[in-house]
Amino acid sequence: MSLIPVGIIGTGKYVPERVLTNQDLEQMVDTNDEWIVTRTGIRERRLAAAEQASSDLAYEASLEALSNAGIRAEELDLIIVATITPDMAFPSTACILQEKLGAKKAAAFDLSAACSGFIYGLANASNFIATGTYKYALVVGAECLSKITDYTDRNTCVLFGDGAGAVVLGAVPEGRGFRSFELGADGSGGELLKVEGGGSRCPASPESLESKRHFIYMAGSEVFKFAVRIMGSAAEEALRKAGIDKAEIDLLVPHQANIRIIQSALQKLHLSEDKAMINLDKYGNVSAASIPLALAEAVESGRVKEGDKLLLVGFGGGLTWGAAALVW
Ligand code: UT7
Repeated sequence: MSLIPVGIIGTGKYVPERVLTNQDLEQMVDTNDEWIVTRTGIRERRLAAAEQASSDLAYEASLEALSNAGIRAEELDLIIVATITPDMAFPSTACILQEKLGAKKAAAFDLSAACSGFIYGLANASNFIATGTYKYALVVGAECLSKITDYTDRNTCVLFGDGAGAVVLGAVPEGRGFRSFELGADGSGGELLKVEGGGSRCPASPESLESKRHFIYMAGSEVFKFAVRIMGSAAEEALRKAGIDKAEIDLLVPHQANIRIIQSALQKLHLSEDKAMINLDKYGNVSAASIPLALAEAVESGRVKEGDKLLLVGFGGGLTWGAAALVW
């Protein structure tokens, strides 16, 4: 069976209005702007309003992506939402989004692969289109990490933010679109980055609240070491499968967790910093939303031209990782 070339035909993004700066955090925990900027590169992040949930952010980003793709929600065959902060345990955020958009014929499901979720979603959705099963798919990364962040824990609260990015996938001309995916997981590192509370192992209880198990726990330096190793190897593997040389990359769109992790990936790929899309200074780490948000900004600002070779690469809880090589 010959496969249909699949690519991104529209991008969109949304971030909530409220800005939380490093200076604001100085008033909340024992931290300072200098530490946060030099250790992470983050200067500010966006926070959802009390009444906003991930589907609300996803909705705004999706409208923009649909408009840029020039298709109507009713034409969507599939919606995948990658998130670790769903509106609720179920129904899925994808089903809530389907209803908001009026995407009546779309199948819809959430995907849980933490910060790698968007790349996992792209790989899934593109297979449905490549085989002719579906024509159009919406893949969204949407997070309200502020709702699971402990703002008394300086190890984590300086890092995370809220936002959403969305893409529409469809058929593209021969020679364009996705060239390869590289996905992976190492469940042995699951304890390094997690939210225990609220699941079937640790249901919500006065004790689970008291012990703060509904907040993000992260062994930062262990995750850092994993990230530095896996960003380089996942990127190289995706390029090898795609038959693209490092030197040919026009734009790297990495997961926006820490500027030092991005710099080490650039070093491994022998790329200069101007080859990377970096917006973590404005938004912090937005988990599954981070890569689509950065991609949408890159497109919006004219940094991506037809025929450009892009490499998307991320890592996160699970542990998981994912990379995608594509021709725009
Ligand atoms: O997308 C999910 C994946 N997550 C990540 O990618 C995060 C990966 N990890 C990281 O980005 C880094 O490990 C952090 C930014 C979280 C931490 O940076 P680090 O260079 O690994 O610092 P550290 O954890 O080794 O801590 C160094 C020191 C410690 O003090 P002592 O023990 O040396 O006295 C921390 O207590 O920095 C202290 N520290 C802080 N100081 C001021 C930790 N957080 C802060 C803070 N402000 N916010």
